[in-house]
Amino acid sequence: MTTVSPTPETTPAATSLAAPHVSVGQTPPPSMRLRELAFGAACAAAVRAAARMGVADALGETPASAAELALVVDAEPVPLQRLLRALCCYGIFSETPDGKFVHSEMSRLLREDDPNSLRYIALWCTEPWTWEVWPHLDDAVRSGSSVFPETFGKGFFEYLHQDAGESAQVFNRAMTTSSVQSAQDVADLLDLTGVTTVVDIGGGQGHVLASLLEKHPSVHGTLLDLPGVVARADARLRDGGRLADRVRIVPGDCREDIPVEADLYIIKNILEWDDESTRRTLRNVVSAARSGARVVIIENLVDDSPSMRFTTAMDLLLLLNVGGAKHTRESLVGRMSDAGLQVGEIHPVNAYLHAFECVVP
Ligand SMILES: C[S@@+](CC[C@H](N)C(=O)[O-])C[C@H]1O[C@@H](n2cnc3c(N)ncnc32)[C@H](O)[C@@H]1O
Repeated sequence: MTTVSPTPETTPAATSLAAPHVSVGQTPPPSMRLRELAFGAACAAAVRAAARMGVADALGETPASAAELALVVDAEPVPLQRLLRALCCYGIFSETPDGKFVHSEMSRLLREDDPNSLRYIALWCTEPWTWEVWPHLDDAVRSGSSVFPETFGKGFFEYLHQDAGESAQVFNRAMTTSSVQSAQDVADLLDLTGVTTVVDIGGGQGHVLASLLEKHPSVHGTLLDLPGVVARADARLRDGGRLADRVRIVPGDCREDIPVEADLYIIKNILEWDDESTRRTLRNVVSAARSGARVVIIENLVDDSPSMRFTTAMDLLLLLNVGGAKHTRESLVGRMSDAGLQVGEIHPVNAYLHAFECVVP
């Protein structure tokens, strides 16, 4: 996308809204804070609009007026200024005293070309289907079940793939972003001393596996995931890729069978479905692994994380869309112990993930 170059012109309509610099960071009293929180949809919608319109991509390193940006993103100057001012209240973009806009740390993350871009995650969290299920949260809390079948007449993934192709693509890109961003953190955390073989169960496109194999040139790895997912595995792992000679790709359903023996089993961000699927997967790991093998389970926790607003929001969305749940430390330890794993140390991986070390007895 084109980025605005500094030009002096602004339209009268845009300048008519030029107002005192927005101040961010004052804590309002509870009566105002609750009003603001109840209006949370406005913030989510503003983030989504900016992401869809490419506003952050249009803003370069020079302060730009709403009118200048409006030309690039094909919008009306005054409404764009209103959108930007709303976002500035949350620290997304910043307004200069002369009514121009500049990037903040958060607005840069909405740029598609930022190395840590969250553009697809922002879109994923605010896809059209989310606006249809949130109003039914009270029903889901009463029933303890997903509201997707009643709302859309089918399960979440069926809906996504049959009726919402654009959302499915956003989902894939958001999952890839999330996976790539945490893969390096996992590779940095895990000590592979004594490990020669590793398998990532439900490893998606294999970003964690690729990061581990890049870091440890003598380690061999297996990627196990559903057939449609491993077909799109990271190019480094596929035939002709630079790690391919150390990789085995196994299409399969980990709830049915895990036909892989390895020194280390990684299970990251998949145990957020129903309990029976978790039980079957962990039981299959224990059956496949030799005594003494290591199992590392990596998950977001809803009770012990610096980012609990994020993990609890994900937890509620999982309830709504698939009837799933994020775990507490205790619930995850309980599932592992029930499967017969010996649970050892628990380490934070980053601000939103924890790794649980286990051993197969
Ligand atoms: C949230 S993603 C996590 C991917 C990866 N572990 C990561 O953290 O980047 C969940 C993964 O579980 C996989 N999955 C879901 N059901 C599965 C099953 N029955 N057998 C194997 N993999 C499954 C999905 O295809 C997806 O790749």
